[in-house]
Amino acid sequence: MPETHTAHADIDTLIRVLDAAETMPAAARLRARSYQLLRPPPGATVIDVGCGTARAVAELAAHGARAIGVDLDPAMLAAARSRFPDLDVRAADAIELPLGDGQAHGYRADKVYHVLPDPHGALAEARRVLAPGGRIVLLGQDWDTMVIDSDQPEVTRRIVHARADTIPHPRIARAYRNLLLDAGFRDAEIEVHTAVFTDASMLPILGGHVAAARQAGAISDAEAESWIDEQTRRARHERFLIAIPMFLAAATR
Ligand SMILES: C[S@@+](CC[C@H](N)C(=O)[O-])C[C@H]1O[C@@H](n2cnc3c(N)ncnc32)[C@H](O)[C@@H]1O
Repeated sequence: MPETHTAHADIDTLIRVLDAAETMPAAARLRARSYQLLRPPPGATVIDVGCGTARAVAELAAHGARAIGVDLDPAMLAAARSRFPDLDVRAADAIELPLGDGQAHGYRADKVYHVLPDPHGALAEARRVLAPGGRIVLLGQDWDTMVIDSDQPEVTRRIVHARADTIPHPRIARAYRNLLLDAGFRDAEIEVHTAVFTDASMLPILGGHVAAARQAGAISDAEAESWIDEQTRRARHERFLIAIPMFLAAATR
């Protein structure tokens, strides 16, 4: 299959998984908490970096902010624009935002920093676009600490760690507060919320985990098949459980 088709299939899967995860009431509450920490005054410019399909951009706009979403991926941008044609969604890299110095009151990045090649550079860019007193909020999961209920705990541990090792910065979320302090932000605070999934909508995530672990040589074909069979069975019989620590850090420019 040509690479572009694979890339689109990956983005379609990501959008499906994000839709399933983000429509859960606990995820909506966590996003609401992130907006509370941003504290945008009415009409203030808030930028959501790595906005995906622009769910948060729409919610921030509904709260009265002048919300701007930026993302690098053309398929994500197309999905965002088709869902929310009236929103301000732009193609841009986290390292080079389409705002002048001090033009933003708020900066938000949700499940993004773990994939950035240069998180320190992205934070320097956040500082550049934020006005003094502006707020930054980072939100994301710790990939090394995914809890999965399984009758095969040792294989599970190998799968989780092998998948984490394919991610540029799998443990960056636990470092958000320290990164913000190192970048010169003040009043840094951090919270951890646990995302819990008990239905089959998260099975595609585990398919990706198993494929990554198999490719890394961390598990055999037989272990991959047996493990995914068990998880599929669990999902079918309502015995599926994944828990993921979600770190939410906030600070002031
Ligand atoms: C896991 S998705 C999260 C999307 C959205 N924030 C959400 O919570 O639903 C990560 C997003 O970051 C975007 N992204 C990755 N690298 C980026 C970069 N360097 N600059 C801007 N966006 C980036 C991806 O295209 C993707 O849409």
